Amino acid sequence: MLVLCFVFCLLFYGQKAHSASEHASQDHGSDILDFIDPLVGSRSGGNVFAGATLPYGMAKAVADVDGGNTGGFSTDGSNITGFSALHDSGTGGNPSLGNFPIFPQVCPEDDINSCKFPIAARAMPYKNESVKARPGYFGVELENGIHADMTVAEHTALFRFDFSRAFSANGSGNPLIMLDLTDLWASRQNASISIEANDGEEAGRIKGNGTFLPSFGAGSYQAYFCLDVAGGRIKDSGVWVNDRAGTGPKQLYVTRGFNLFYLQAGGYLRFKGPLNGTINARMGLSFISTEQACQNAENEIPGPNFDFERLVTRAEGAWRAKLAPIATSTGDVDASFQTSFWSAIYRTMISPQDYTGENPHWQSTEPYFDSFYCIWDMWRVQLPFLTILDPKMMSNMIRSLLDTYRHRGWLPDCMMSTCKGWTQGGSDADNVIVDAYVKNLTGIDWELAYSAILNDAENEPLEWSIEGRGGLNSWKTLHYIPYLDFDPVGFGTNSRSISRTLEYSYNDFNLAKLAKGLGKDTYTTYLSRSTNWQNLFQPSQTSFINGTNTNFIGFFQPKYQNGTWGYQDPIACSPLTDFCSLTSNPSETFESSAWEYMFFVPHDIGRVIELLGGDDTFLRRLDYFHTSGLADIGNEPVFLTVYMPHYAGRPGLSARRVHSYIPSRFNTSSSGLPGNDDSGAMASFTLFSMLGLFPNPGQNVYFITPPFFPEISVTNQLTNMTATIRSVNFDKAYKNIYVQSAKLNGEVYTRSWIGHEFFTQGWTLELVLGDRESEWGTRGEDRPPSMSTGGEGMEW
Ligand SMILES: *[C@@H]1O[C@H](CO)[C@@H](O)[C@H](O)[C@H]1NC(C)=O
Ligand SMILES: *[C@@H]1O[C@H](CO)[C@@H](O)[C@H](O)[C@H]1NC(C)=O
Ligand SMILES: *[C@@H]1O[C@H](CO)[C@@H](O)[C@H](O)[C@H]1NC(C)=O
Ligand SMILES: *[C@@H]1O[C@H](CO)[C@@H](O)[C@H](O)[C@H]1NC(C)=O
Ligand SMILES: *[C@@H]1O[C@H](CO)[C@@H](O)[C@H](O)[C@H]1NC(C)=O
Ligand SMILES: *[C@@H]1O[C@H](CO)[C@@H](O)[C@H](O)[C@H]1NC(C)=O
Ligand SMILES: *[C@@H]1O[C@H](CO)[C@@H](O)[C@H](O)[C@H]1NC(C)=O
Ligand SMILES: *[C@@H]1O[C@H](CO)[C@@H](O)[C@H](O)[C@H]1NC(C)=O
Ligand SMILES: *[C@@H]1O[C@H](CO)[C@@H](O)[C@H](O)[C@H]1NC(C)=O
Ligand SMILES: *[C@@H]1O[C@H](CO)[C@@H](O)[C@H](O)[C@H]1NC(C)=O
Ligand SMILES: *[C@@H]1O[C@H](CO)[C@@H](O)[C@H](O)[C@H]1NC(C)=O
Repeated sequence: MLVLCFVFCLLFYGQKAHSASEHASQDHGSDILDFIDPLVGSRSGGNVFAGATLPYGMAKAVADVDGGNTGGFSTDGSNITGFSALHDSGTGGNPSLGNFPIFPQVCPEDDINSCKFPIAARAMPYKNESVKARPGYFGVELENGIHADMTVAEHTALFRFDFSRAFSANGSGNPLIMLDLTDLWASRQNASISIEANDGEEAGRIKGNGTFLPSFGAGSYQAYFCLDVAGGRIKDSGVWVNDRAGTGPKQLYVTRGFNLFYLQAGGYLRFKGPLNGTINARMGLSFISTEQACQNAENEIPGPNFDFERLVTRAEGAWRAKLAPIATSTGDVDASFQTSFWSAIYRTMISPQDYTGENPHWQSTEPYFDSFYCIWDMWRVQLPFLTILDPKMMSNMIRSLLDTYRHRGWLPDCMMSTCKGWTQGGSDADNVIVDAYVKNLTGIDWELAYSAILNDAENEPLEWSIEGRGGLNSWKTLHYIPYLDFDPVGFGTNSRSISRTLEYSYNDFNLAKLAKGLGKDTYTTYLSRSTNWQNLFQPSQTSFINGTNTNFIGFFQPKYQNGTWGYQDPIACSPLTDFCSLTSNPSETFESSAWEYMFFVPHDIGRVIELLGGDDTFLRRLDYFHTSGLADIGNEPVFLTVYMPHYAGRPGLSARRVHSYIPSRFNTSSSGLPGNDDSGAMASFTLFSMLGLFPNPGQNVYFITPPFFPEISVTNQLTNMTATIRSVNFDKAYKNIYVQSAKLNGEVYTRSWIGHEFFTQGWTLELVLGDRESEWGTRGEDRPPSMSTGGEGMEW
C-alpha cells in the first residue's frame, strides 16, 4: 500500500513539482545574482569575505583593510592596505591568510623613496560609495583616485588598476605596483622574492614564497605566488626593505632574527606613465611551489592580454549554476528577504575551499578540501545544507576528510591553510559523515568512514588539541569526562568537561548509527555510550541571576573523577557573563553556558524534556532562555534550541521564535549578523529557517515551519527530482506563521518533521497557515523522534 503510493506520488508529484518550479523561476523576473550582496555580514564581527571568488574557490580577491580584516575587507571606516587573493570567510580570532598583498601607487616627484612601502604608511582611505561587490567581482576606488577591480579563476586572481584619475591634471606620473611579503596577521616567518623584469618591456614577473602561521592551528604552511604585471612599458623594478627601495638587487630573502623581529619587505615594478589604459596584475597562487603558481596562472588566465570581462562572466555563470536548483515564488515579499536568502545560500559555498592539486602533505587522487574552519561550526547547518544543494560536492568533501584520515591517521576537526586547527568540542567530522550516510550520499567508502570514526571513539591521540578526543579512559570507565581529569595518555586544553561529555555522547550516537547501518554489532556499545550525557545532569542544581532565583531546577554540572559534583554557575559563559573560549576564561562549557548546553542532546530531547519536568516546564525554560539574554544567538550551539518546541508538541512556538530573530538579528545590513559567520554557519541558520525545513544533522529529520516565501522548490542533483514546499494563506506580514494542517503529495500529513526523502524523491509539502497555533504537530506520535521516546530512525 505504502509502496504503491510512493510510486504514484513519485510519478505524479514529481511532474507537478517540476512545473511549479518553472513557474517559480519565472517569478524572479531578473538575474538571481542581483539578490546576492557579498557585503552582508562584512562588518561588526560577521567577518564575511566580501570579495571575488568562484564557488569553493581557492583564489579569493579583495581589498584588505587595517580594521576588522579577518575576512580581508570591511566597511568599518578603516583604510585599505593592499589587495590579496587568499582568504577565509566568517572566521573568528586572528585574521587568516591575506598573503602577498599588492598595492598601487604613484611616487611623488617620481622619487622611488617617496612611495610608501610599510603597511602603516601606505594605508589609504577609499571612497565609500565606490565599493561594488557582486559574485565574482569586487571593485573599489582609493581616495587618491586609483580604481581597483578584481575577479578570479580557481587559483588565480586578476587585479586591474586604473590610474587615470590619480595622475596630476597634466597626466604625468609613473604607476607603481608593489608586493609585500606578508599576510594579514603578519605571521610570516621567512620569505623569498625575485623580480624578472627588463626596463622598457611590456610586462614583468615577480615570484616568490613564504612560510606563515595558520590563524587557529598548529605548525606552519608555505604559500607561493607568481605575479605578472602588464599594461605599459616598465620603467624600473626592484626590492624594498622597511621604507627604502632600490633597483638592485632583484632578489631578496627575509627571515626573522633578533627577538623574531619582523622586517617589512617585498618587491616592486614601475611603469612609464602616463598610461592610456589599466595595469593588469595576474596573481597565480599555490601551496606546492612557485612554479605551480605560475602554471596555475598561465592555464587559468592566459595572456598576454588578460580578458577581465570574460572571467567575470565565467564566475557569474559558475554561481548561477550552483544556485539553479533552488527556485522561490516570492509573491510580494519584501525584497530584503530575497537578498537575505540568496546571499546566505551564496555564503555556504565560499568555504570549504577546493584545494585539489594543492595539497603539500600527501599525494592522492582523491579530492582535497581545506578551510573546514571549523567543523564544530559547520556540521550543524552548513554542511547539511550542501548535502541538499550540492550533494556531489559534499560527497567530495567527505572523501577529502576520509583521505585526510587515511594519510594523517585522524579525521580533522578544524583545518585551515593546510594545517591542523584546534579542536573545540567533540570529533565533529563524525557527525558530518554520519549525516551524509543517513542521507544516502553516494561515492563514499563507508567501511573507511566507519574505521575513521571508530578511531576517534577508541584511540586517544597524544595531542587531542588538534584531532580525536581526550579523556577516553575516563569516558570508557567512568562514562563521563571528569572535571580536572587525570589523563596522562594525551594532551589538550583540559577544560570543557561538560560540553565535551555532551559532544562525545552525540559522536557516539552517530557512530552507533553507522555501525548499525553497516551491520556491525558494536552499535550497542556506542548506543550505550551515547547516554553518558545523563551522568552530568545535576537534578537539584538551581540558577540565580543577580541574586534572584530563576526558579528553574536541574542543570548539567561538572563532576570530579571520584563522583563528587563540582560547580559552575549555570549562567557562566552566557552573554550575561564572560565569553569562554579555549584560551580566554576556559570553563567546563565551551563558548556557551550550562543553560544553553542543557538543550544540546540532539538525539534525545525527549529525555531532556522528562528530566526538566515535562513539556510545560521545558517550554517555559526555553522561553526564559531566549528572552532573558542567556541565549547567544550569535554562536552555533544555540541554533537547535530555536526548534526545540517541536519536541514538546508546539511547532508554532518554533516558528514564532524564528521570526523573533529574522530579520532583527539576521538581516541584509553589512552589520547584519549577530556573530562570526563561521564559514557559512550563520548563513545556513538563516536560509534553513527561511526555507521552512531545519535539520537535526546526523538524523533523517527536518523540522517543519512555514517558509518565508509562498513557495520554494529544490531540485536534487542525484535524482533530478524537484521538492516543493508551498503555503496556503501565505501572508507577507508573517502573521500567518502557524501551520493549521499539512498535505504531503496530496495526503494529510500530521508530523511536524520530515525526512531527506522529501528532497531526493521530489515530494510536495503543502502547509495551510493561520494566525494562531493549531493542533497540528502536537500529538506524541507527530513529534520528531528521540532515543528514549522512540520514533522513526530510533529503532535499535
Ligand atoms: C565611510 O564610511 C565609514 C564607515 O561607515 C565612515 O566612518 C566614514 O566617515 C565614511 N566616509 C565618508 C567620506 O563618508
Ligand atoms: C586612514 O588614513 C587616513 C589618511 O592617512 C588617516 O587620516 C586616518 O586616520 C586613517 N584611518 C584609520 C581608521 O586609521
Ligand atoms: C606635471 O605635474 C607634475 C606634478 O604636479 C609636475 O612636477 C610637472 O612639472 C608637470 N609637468 C608638466 C609638463 O607640466
Ligand atoms: C622557512 O622557515 C620554515 C619554518 O621555519 C622552514 O621550514 C623553511 O625551510 C624555511 N625556508 C627557507 C627557504 O629558509
Ligand atoms: C621560493 O622563491 C624563491 C624566489 O623566487 C625561489 O628561488 C625558490 O625556488 C622558491 N621555492 C620554491 C619551493 O618554489
Ligand atoms: C596605448 O599605448 C601603447 C603604447 O604605449 C600603444 O601601442 C597603444 O596603441 C595605445 N592604445 C590606445 C588605445 O591608445
Ligand atoms: C544584573 O545586575 C547588573 C548590575 O546591576 C545589571 O547591569 C544587569 O543587567 C543585571 N542582569 C540581569 C540579567 O538582570
Ligand atoms: C572528590 O575530589 C574533589 C576534588 O579533588 C574533592 O574536593 C572532594 O572532596 C572529593 N570527594 C570525596 C568524597 O572524596
Ligand atoms: C540587523 O542585524 C544586526 C545584527 O544582529 C542587528 O544589530 C540590527 O539591529 C539588525 N537591523 C535591523 C534593522 O533589524
Ligand atoms: C539528471 O539530469 C542530467 C541532465 O539532464 C542527466 O545527465 C542525469 O543523467 C540525470 N540523472 C538522473 C539520476 O536521472
Ligand atoms: C536511503 O536508502 C534507503 C535504502 O534504499 C532508503 O530506504 C531510504 O529511504 C533512503 N533515504 C533517503 C534519505 O533517501
